[in-house]
Amino acid sequence: MTLLVRKVKELREVLKGKEVGFVPTMGYLHEGHLALIRRAREENPFVVVSIYVNPTQFGKGEDFERYPRDLERDLKICKKEGVDVVFAPTDEEVYPFGYLTEVHVKGISEVLEGKFRPNHFKGVATVVLKLLNIVRPRRAYFGEKDYQQLKLVEKMVRDLFLDVEIVAVKTVRDKDGLALSSRNTYLSEEERKSALSLYKSLLLAKELIEKGERDAKKIKEKMREFILSFEKVKKIDYVEITDKELNPKDFVEEGDRILLAVWVGNTRLIDNWEVGEPL
Ligand code: PAF
Repeated sequence: MTLLVRKVKELREVLKGKEVGFVPTMGYLHEGHLALIRRAREENPFVVVSIYVNPTQFGKGEDFERYPRDLERDLKICKKEGVDVVFAPTDEEVYPFGYLTEVHVKGISEVLEGKFRPNHFKGVATVVLKLLNIVRPRRAYFGEKDYQQLKLVEKMVRDLFLDVEIVAVKTVRDKDGLALSSRNTYLSEEERKSALSLYKSLLLAKELIEKGERDAKKIKEKMREFILSFEKVKKIDYVEITDKELNPKDFVEEGDRILLAVWVGNTRLIDNWEVGEPL
């Protein structure tokens, strides 16, 4: 049985004495979320999924209003996956009147995504800390698809001595390679084809590296050129090669990350790959 809880106070009662695996989400669940839920199910006696489209992590003019929402559908999925509790709070529950505290993880919040989405990571860090404090899980599950978010949460947990294990779960892709995202629902048929430019450019980078190319600048240039050859690609926000901690690299080594953000029509998509891993 899956219990739907809307209030912090009620959730605290339900979770008393439980060893919890926690999957924070913004809902509209897809196979990527299911990978997180299944891993949590395997590793914990009790699983909580939160469904909350957090307004503070969206910038002005971003897709907060049109972000897909369907709680009924998500609840059915959670039931099928054996989730114990779905926590779907209201804005008033998460941001009670008069709240004044925000969390800023310096440095990592300002690069890559942060350059193009100012305040995004302040919103993410703040809501994740709130959710971790509300749920108090033993383990919390985050997808590598949002690699920068994962690293930010890891840093926050370390810096604030939070008593939770952060578990990273590999990106789940569609059959043709597109990384799963709730935002893929925005894509028209034509745009869906151009959305593959992200995955395919990572494949191109993989091929170049396997042939012995190590110069990050050359790899990035080739990726950019390739991405821009897709009809519906509007612009590239960034293509970057970094070490595991998101510091830019000039020469590529195994374990580094290639990260990119691309606009396909009016939809902004992100993806990344760890050099040396299968793709
Ligand atoms: O990755 C997401 O879905 C969100 O950023 C998260 C972690 C649920 C915080 O709102």
